[in-house]
Amino acid sequence: MAEKPVRILVTGAAGQIGYAIVPMIAKGIMLGPDQPVILHLLDIEPAAESLNGVKMELIDAAFPLLKGVVATTDVVEACEDVNIAVMIGGFPRKEGMERKDVMSKNVSIYKAQASALEEHAAAGCKVLVVANPANTNALILKEFAPSIPEKNITCLTRLDHNRALGQISERLNAHVSNVKNVIIWGNHSSTQYPDINHATVTTSSGEKPVRELVSDDHWLNTEFITTVQQRGAAIIRARKLSSALSAASAACDHIRDWVLGTPKGTWVSMGVYSDGSYGIQPGLFYSFPVRCEKGQWSIVQGLKIDEFSRAKMDATAKELIEEKSLAYSCLN
Ligand code: NAD
Ligand code: LMR
Repeated sequence: MAEKPVRILVTGAAGQIGYAIVPMIAKGIMLGPDQPVILHLLDIEPAAESLNGVKMELIDAAFPLLKGVVATTDVVEACEDVNIAVMIGGFPRKEGMERKDVMSKNVSIYKAQASALEEHAAAGCKVLVVANPANTNALILKEFAPSIPEKNITCLTRLDHNRALGQISERLNAHVSNVKNVIIWGNHSSTQYPDINHATVTTSSGEKPVRELVSDDHWLNTEFITTVQQRGAAIIRARKLSSALSAASAACDHIRDWVLGTPKGTWVSMGVYSDGSYGIQPGLFYSFPVRCEKGQWSIVQGLKIDEFSRAKMDATAKELIEEKSLAYSCLN
């Protein structure tokens, strides 16, 4: 194992997703079985003792790939020389809080952490924002870390992408690994548009379009979409806690494909800075279909968009525009 360790920052590491993701990273699920890692774990002062407990468990797990753990409540120390930053830390919505109150707390956190990352992370650091509102937190991070290239900042919609694969797999009784090329357009929220118009399933008689195999357009255009859009809320109702293991797994999938490349013939969904592709206003973090190669993502171009899809893609863009102005009003 000759590889130099990669330093990975996990913010909110004492939280639910943090607790699920750190063993995944330390076991090589994010960067592969030959890549040693050093974990940088950040949380806030009230969670310091719990964060130290996570560090103790990481030591006790004796992971062969884990070459060190920095557990701290100091954002500068946490960001020092990191190559990958998984931003999970944030303020959860509490009873009686308005959307604006949550937005206000979180955009302030992302503004402050943007500066620390810009000044202290390693050159070329890749950033994944998980904490909600994920797209808008990523936008704030980008705006307040102008020297981090926009190509290096992304937000998580891979969980929604995986949820869409899961729903098709369940419906067709096909293994999930045979389903590919769904798309999540837009915001990681209930306005997202899960699109199966280009998705296929590998069957014993070759690759077939999902629309042909499901042959129930009504289900695809209604229940399928709302199930994926509202899956996060359904998990909260069932667990009384928001998704954690699936979110952690999706974050590993996101970084792995970004760094190591998407499999041939396959795309995935990532929230990235819009360049105007598919008529989406530039300057929003919007989920697109992307392919990754040599550590770079690029938006899949030229997909045919019908009227139904257009309306849904625009509706989620409209929500992101509104979130952006709300975020700025919170910062002013
Ligand atoms: P959690 O409340 O269990 O953990 C959040 C952690 O962040 C806590 O330990 C808290 O102390 C810490 N924190 C708060 N402020 C911080 C700061 N300034 N710096 C560092 N750490 C800080 O929440 P969770 O269930 O782990 O979820 C984390 C976030 O991820 C939430 O915003 C949630 O809504 C979001 N989420 C996103 C997706 C997605 O697909 N994008 C999926 C699931 C959850
Ligand atoms: C999810 O999609 O599971 C989460 O974003 C839900 C949430 O509000 O934390």
